Amino acid sequence: MKLTIQMMVNGQPVTVETEPNRTLLEVLREDLGLTGSKEGCGTGDCGACTVHLNGRPVTSCLVLAPEADGCEIVTIEGLAQSGQLHPVQQAFIQYGGLQCGICTPGFVMAATALLRDNPNPTEHEVREAIAGNLCRCTGYDKIVRAILAASDVAER
Ligand code: FES
Ligand code: FES
Repeated sequence: MKLTIQMMVNGQPVTVETEPNRTLLEVLREDLGLTGSKEGCGTGDCGACTVHLNGRPVTSCLVLAPEADGCEIVTIEGLAQSGQLHPVQQAFIQYGGLQCGICTPGFVMAATALLRDNPNPTEHEVREAIAGNLCRCTGYDKIVRAILAASDVAER
């Protein structure tokens, strides 16, 4: 049995037919071609699949697609505006906040949610906001520096 789901994804209305046991991450990647959100663990532990659901960061591997019906979703593909990267994306590049990059979309989505709610976070608040995101490469420090740098300039 398939369900029809309607969502706003990156500002565009989308309608998807899906089995009810598929995740939001699967629908985003496989049905909508939005492969920026990554599947690291599939069990809610790594944060690589983080997207915004009605403005809040969620691990989309743990959200069943029908739960997103009627919701507004923003993925990493929806952050750049008019060809300009979001200030957080710029800062990750500038401060070397990524290496292999598989964790990066999740960190960026967690960081943009933080800065929207808390434009000038402390380092502790930044580390708390990204506590659900794992990175095997960077040692985290450059990611934290990037987010703190973006907090001075981020569009909110
Ligand atoms: S893939 Fe969703 S938390 Fe790891
Ligand atoms: S940059 Fe490789 S896991 Fe974070």
